[in-house]
Amino acid sequence: MKKIKILAILFLFMYGCESALNTGSGSLTPSYNTDETLRQIAEEKGIYVGAAVADTPLFSKNEPYSNVFVKEFNMMVCENEMKFEYLQTSSNNFYWTIADRMVNVALANNMKIRGHTLLWHSQSGWASNVNNPAALSNILSNHIFTVMKRYSNKINYWDVVNEAIEVNNALSNSSNFYDHLRKSFWWTNLGSNYVEYAFQLARAADPTAKLFYNDYGIEAYNTKALYTYLLVSNLKAKGLIDGVGFQMHIDTNFKPFQNGFASNLKRFSDLGLELHITEMDVRIPIPANYTSYSQQANTYREVISTALSNSNVTAIVFWGFTDKYSWVPGFFTNYGDALLFDKNYQRKQSYNAVMEVLKNK
Ligand code: G3I
Repeated sequence: MKKIKILAILFLFMYGCESALNTGSGSLTPSYNTDETLRQIAEEKGIYVGAAVADTPLFSKNEPYSNVFVKEFNMMVCENEMKFEYLQTSSNNFYWTIADRMVNVALANNMKIRGHTLLWHSQSGWASNVNNPAALSNILSNHIFTVMKRYSNKINYWDVVNEAIEVNNALSNSSNFYDHLRKSFWWTNLGSNYVEYAFQLARAADPTAKLFYNDYGIEAYNTKALYTYLLVSNLKAKGLIDGVGFQMHIDTNFKPFQNGFASNLKRFSDLGLELHITEMDVRIPIPANYTSYSQQANTYREVISTALSNSNVTAIVFWGFTDKYSWVPGFFTNYGDALLFDKNYQRKQSYNAVMEVLKNK
């Protein structure tokens, strides 16, 4: 009987503790002044914290999306609205309304802007059906010049090319990055120099913009990161690139130390490139619980502190900021809650972890 009593007291103590700590979806009473914002601390440290935003919630009058966004972040990227199919809706017909009003929100709130993205194998609309090298070359040139000139001195960073490296296991013995380019319609029509061509166009279109290559799965010291390193080394040698974006779409299994994250970043920064974390989210199984939110917070803490230990890392951008609007549940079954704010815009443990890292930088 006594044993049961002890166990019961222990259970209540543990549960009581957890429930006292666990206010809301995994949020924890923070150890800092809750009036402070990520943006405020980031600006004190001279770095950018950003988020991908979507047009509809940004202009909704029914929720705090835009207020939280402009208060907490000093960098914006459009989640979809600046992709090829959104800006050039048909051949040489451009649609600016939505992208312009999102750019204006960022400018009005003194935010830097990442342009995402000029050349990608996905969401390229009608262009992906063009099967004519000369025509597609002109289409790409027209797109890059038209878009970059419109947003010159407004958009500071461009993802000129997104996700062009795809490890070709059939040529795993080849360290030639040309052998590991994604065989998209851009490659089929323009050949293996299409990435360099895009960067040449971008450099000519807006010499004031910083030109980035952006990809996923290149955060660890792995094969894809090696081919990306070789690709950007070639571009850097030709003066065509200024930075690399590491998307950082991960789960809690990503361990920076074990994955060689710091040494991977270093080989890129040793090239003299600016480095951005461009699309960070840390997906967890849903329904989540206190433990998984804590693990998520630890992953945010370890990744961002490792990233910011490299002085060439100048921006940490999250792919969304509230769990209410995230691509993750639609693409990863039974996963979600990947961001810093819960669906009710309450700061989560992950937010607290990021804030602590920024304050300690
Ligand atoms: O706008 C249409 C809407 O009219 C339609 O009713 C609805 C249902 O079909 O689709 C809507 O378009 C969706 C679009 O997001 C806007 O919500 C597309 O179907 C959907 O495929 C698209 O997903 C985007 C995805 O890129 C496309 O690959 C995600 O929102 C976006 O977060 C995601 O972002 C990418 C980055 O650009 C590159 N890195 C990876 C990252 C995650 O995939």
